[in-house]
Amino acid sequence: MPLGTKNVSLIGFMGTGKSSIGKALGRILSRPVIDIDRVVETKEKRKIREIFEMHGEAHFRKLEKDAIAEAAEAVGKVITTGGGAAIDPANMEALRKNGWVISLTAKAETIYYRVKDSKHRPLLASGEDRLESIKKLMEIRRPYYEKADFHFETDGHSAAQVAEAIIETLEKQ
Ligand code: S3P
Repeated sequence: MPLGTKNVSLIGFMGTGKSSIGKALGRILSRPVIDIDRVVETKEKRKIREIFEMHGEAHFRKLEKDAIAEAAEAVGKVITTGGGAAIDPANMEALRKNGWVISLTAKAETIYYRVKDSKHRPLLASGEDRLESIKKLMEIRRPYYEKADFHFETDGHSAAQVAEAIIETLEKQ
């Protein structure tokens, strides 16, 4: 199988389905899934929101970078990242070392709908400003997500459908 032991890493904006599509990939490929946000939370024994509140974003980014560097050393894994991970070129380089980097996309309105009840995303404004803050941040981050090897739209698709499409593409490489 051309995919071999290469890692499959998911990047993309909050609410593009990285975690659920990562789980579907893990299930279909019978691979362990490393969710970077969960790794950081387990190590710190705190929720991401608390880490942001207590120590600030820069500190979270350092923890995220360390967790990615460690996870990316492995092979045969599915790695799901937080929405800001792709901004740091060192993270992208690490994820590429042993595998493919897949970017997931969705329309701002879809993301708004998916994260509307989320209280654990410190970077999104609450209330009426939320859609605008999603649109602004998406524009800033677009060039970073575009650096992925492959891109998949998630609007209107189930996690399993996107996972199957990713596998089909990677097996052709
Ligand atoms: C972030 C996204 C979050 C989490 C943190 C920062 C971001 O992950 O890592 O709140 O900068 O976009 P999700 O993309 O899973 O929401």
